[in-house]
Amino acid sequence: MCGIVGYIGKKEALPILLEGLRDLEYRGYDSAGIAILNQGKIERIREVGKVDMLVKKIAGKKFPGSIGIAHTRWATHGGVTEENAHPHLAGNGKLVLAHNGIIENYRELKKEIKDQNFESETDSEILAKLIFQNYSGDLLKAVKMTLPRVRGTYGLAIMHADHPDEIVVARLGSPLVVGVGEDEYYLASDVTPILPFTKQVTFLDDGEVALINRQEFKIFNLKDEQIIKGVTQIDWDIETAQKGGFENFMLKEIFDQPTVFEDAIRGRIDMSEGTAKLGGLNMNLEEMRAIKRIILIACGTASYACLAAKYAFERLSGIPTEVDVSSEFRYRDPIVDEHTLIFAVSQSGETADTIMALREAKRKGGVVRGIVNVVGSTIARETGAGTYIHAGPELAVASTKAYTNMVAILLLYALEFGRLHHTTPATGQRILQSLLQIPEKMNEILKQSEQIKILADKYKDYNDFLFLGRGINYSVALEGSHKLKEISYIHSEAYPAGEMKHGMNALLTPDFPVLAILTQNQLYEKMKSSIEEVRARKSKTIIIASVGDEEAKELADDIVYVPKTMELLEPLLNTIPLQLFAYHTAVALGRDVDRPRNLAKSVTVE
Ligand code: F6R
Repeated sequence: MCGIVGYIGKKEALPILLEGLRDLEYRGYDSAGIAILNQGKIERIREVGKVDMLVKKIAGKKFPGSIGIAHTRWATHGGVTEENAHPHLAGNGKLVLAHNGIIENYRELKKEIKDQNFESETDSEILAKLIFQNYSGDLLKAVKMTLPRVRGTYGLAIMHADHPDEIVVARLGSPLVVGVGEDEYYLASDVTPILPFTKQVTFLDDGEVALINRQEFKIFNLKDEQIIKGVTQIDWDIETAQKGGFENFMLKEIFDQPTVFEDAIRGRIDMSEGTAKLGGLNMNLEEMRAIKRIILIACGTASYACLAAKYAFERLSGIPTEVDVSSEFRYRDPIVDEHTLIFAVSQSGETADTIMALREAKRKGGVVRGIVNVVGSTIARETGAGTYIHAGPELAVASTKAYTNMVAILLLYALEFGRLHHTTPATGQRILQSLLQIPEKMNEILKQSEQIKILADKYKDYNDFLFLGRGINYSVALEGSHKLKEISYIHSEAYPAGEMKHGMNALLTPDFPVLAILTQNQLYEKMKSSIEEVRARKSKTIIIASVGDEEAKELADDIVYVPKTMELLEPLLNTIPLQLFAYHTAVALGRDVDRPRNLAKSVTVE
């Protein structure tokens, strides 16, 4: 996620652009920049850090002009540097472009560019240069010629110095909204920057390109047919708009999951070979084959994502895989050698325990890689190699979309290693096909949010909860319990169901509801027996079951159905009803869902 703002009209563009960037900072905040077109010249200024840093840099300088574009960045390709900040120039400063999204085939496109002098490491600069290369006097035409060649996602705003009355915008997979004023237009990644000026907006749809000038804007599809669209009246306040209309960031981020999951896997699968292609590993096949052990180090939710992935690593690759909580790993004098691959997994990339643990692993000679959300963060830099999970900024303290994207990336790594060992191409292809169906299935679960809210209202006054799972779903139980604790402050535990009889059963009473994950996998029958045991102690049962499983109803006081998928992929789906259950319970209890007490989004102390 990044944020784009633009203005064309009669007013000074600079203050509108800067205010707009501030409103969009929640979409990305590692660097920002603006470009203003004045008297046939594009003036651009960029700075690393939050928008305030850019404002400081601009202070005292003049950027006159009434047409401009701006961008706040959430890095995907290329580190956090001024060179990589948007907007990007092409054609000796004649064309300028701001991009939100990911160009998958940027390597292929790069080869076609005649001017191979690149200022940045971004996919976006390649696009700017390609559009400039296709330009012969008509900016809209150049954009329309270029976009069919692009694979990936984009929200784009483009200006050309010879067209002082035009901004061209385009959308595929990344949002863009045009605000309609009087002889002026605003554009932005969402309505927030537009609302102070006008409530009349038009939402661009995927595959649409628009030419905006001071009098009108015209929308076309890529077949060059003009599209006539009406305007929508927006009645949201700014805060609601930032949350995309959701009540708070956590709910928005839960609902972001199908989209950001696609961002995580985009361009990273090789269907014909039934494998994954994650460039960040930086190891050749021989080096990969030399890995005899894998250790996944992480904290909290990230560690539960790792636990889910352990099953995939061991089953697909046969490589012994351990999960270690970072704070324990470091002090345990872990056994690590040059044949041990250590993945440090972290949303923020700043978790002190994980940083210390990865340093320890490096010191002992292990091969250390990062799996991180925040580009340019300490873990990303210190590991020097690895993979970004592309979940976009996660603002709620309780992690949701970063979890699913971590599981996705770890699964892809498990598959990549698996294909070097005993996983066949056909199995690899089946896994990838199932992965591609995950976003649609996530949406099926999200549709049940209101039903889960009713459940949360029913159970919110219990003081204790037990989450039960077996096999890979034990990791899901741990994450579900963790979420409930964090944001509702209700005591809960997670247990591997088979272990209940060794102690936990003693706690069961009618006041101790049990949330059990009973999807139809190899441990289904065993899990059913465990639930029977719970029911014998008169505990209430809420069951997460596979669609169509009528038998599960007989064991449940309440039931939530999830679509079926391959067992190794189940955490990607089964965790979502638990996130929603925790969320609705916390809301019902009046908790501050986005900022739970005593917790921080980034834990930078040991
Ligand atoms: C869970 C949560 C924490 C984090 C943990 C690790 O909702 O927010 O448990 O998962 O602090 O943080 P990162 O992933 O940033 O290393």
